[in-house]
Amino acid sequence: MIRSAWKQGWVLVCAVVLMVSACGEDGSKEEAGELLPPTVDTPTDVAGDQFVLTWSKVTGATKFQIEVAIDEDFSQLVEPYDPWRLNATRFTVTELDYGTTYYVRMRTERDDELSAYSNVVVATTLDEPGPEPTTALKEVATTFAVGMAVQTSRLTGEHHEVLTREFDQITAEWEMKMSVMYPTEGVYDFTRSDQIVEYGEANDIAIHGHALIWHSSTPTWVEDFAGTNEEFEAMVKEYITTVVTRYKGRVRSWDVVNEAFQDGSGQLRNTVFRQKMGDDYIEKCYQWTRDADPDVLIFYNDYNMTTDAAKLKASLDMADDFVARDVPIDGIGFQMHIAYNGPDRATIEGAAKKVTDRDLLLHFSELDIRANPNDNMSSLTEQRAIDQQAKYKEVVEIYNAIPETSKFALTVWGMIDSETWLTDFHGYVDWPLMYNDDFSVKKAHTGFLQGLE
Ligand code: XIL
Repeated sequence: MIRSAWKQGWVLVCAVVLMVSACGEDGSKEEAGELLPPTVDTPTDVAGDQFVLTWSKVTGATKFQIEVAIDEDFSQLVEPYDPWRLNATRFTVTELDYGTTYYVRMRTERDDELSAYSNVVVATTLDEPGPEPTTALKEVATTFAVGMAVQTSRLTGEHHEVLTREFDQITAEWEMKMSVMYPTEGVYDFTRSDQIVEYGEANDIAIHGHALIWHSSTPTWVEDFAGTNEEFEAMVKEYITTVVTRYKGRVRSWDVVNEAFQDGSGQLRNTVFRQKMGDDYIEKCYQWTRDADPDVLIFYNDYNMTTDAAKLKASLDMADDFVARDVPIDGIGFQMHIAYNGPDRATIEGAAKKVTDRDLLLHFSELDIRANPNDNMSSLTEQRAIDQQAKYKEVVEIYNAIPETSKFALTVWGMIDSETWLTDFHGYVDWPLMYNDDFSVKKAHTGFLQGLE
């Protein structure tokens, strides 16, 4: 009895001691707060030699420690992240090696106190870029011309070097449009168009003419034409005949009518040409072109041809009708102002096949691939440059795979990124082309070459 009473007393004492000590622990936790590790986010902006870390705020933290290792056990820490100490919630881990997997964990500091380790996050840096290609695009593309959009102010110096090294066809970006060549009634101005054509001839580069009739480049005097419809039609005939004759045998091909169909419906755009010459204005223009130069290739050119089914159908129905009635037409131009994330391969291939099934030439006539379609980047990230490279490769692969009889040219709409028309068009920055502003090649250029492998 006594023994058991003693025993019971002992148990009670122990229980009280345990409770007190537990209470003591709990009490101190509440008082100062348990020091927690941060929650580390998945690394972002992963490049060849760096990535960005962000993590959650921790109450009471005075500093954070970042450990970076090349093994999961953190036995091989990477200097100077062994650990790196700082007071922030974002940090760029730099000076890393290409193509290496890094493990990261963190701890919180509160004066002399240290938290447990955080979760571990992993990042693999990108592979080292390959050496600058020494192969010219035009030499690798043996079955079609590689085109570049040009302007007279961009035909010398480094533009000239790249043009003559890489390209065997050019398109005037704006200086062979009606508003430039025929600015005033009865007065032509061929200063710029002559310069472009002469440049091509002097450098053994073919010239694709663009664009005789385009609603966006119709001079005001034509929009406001004062005469009768008959006079209007005679004026257009004279204009087309004059221009095509001037460049007969020198310009290989013409986009005679550009963007004639409305978006989504495939209805004819109600331009001044349609209003004054009738729904058959396109075939009239094509016939006058052929009459002026029997050998010139005649193209119908438009945008969104891979994604706007109604527009593509309208274009192909027109081509079928022209072929059936012996109205001249040789090919279809897909402008190809696209983005790194779309349209996808199957969509482009499907649209291309509809043209090539018809024994028409196909021109990818104004290719640029937007890297910043959502306007949420202030510089071209390495990852996005890689995505863009993949899309360039894909587009070139698709073009290279069409039947030889349909091949004509693949033209890129501008040389260096800062010169792209898209900056003005969309009102924000993008990097849709193949060359950096110092004329060095981007990954997009490598993608073009890879599409030909
Ligand atoms: C653009 C040029 O890139 C610009 O320099 C010019 O100011 C406007 O036209 N579809 C076409 C091209 O067929 O002629 C357009 O080029 C881009 C859209």
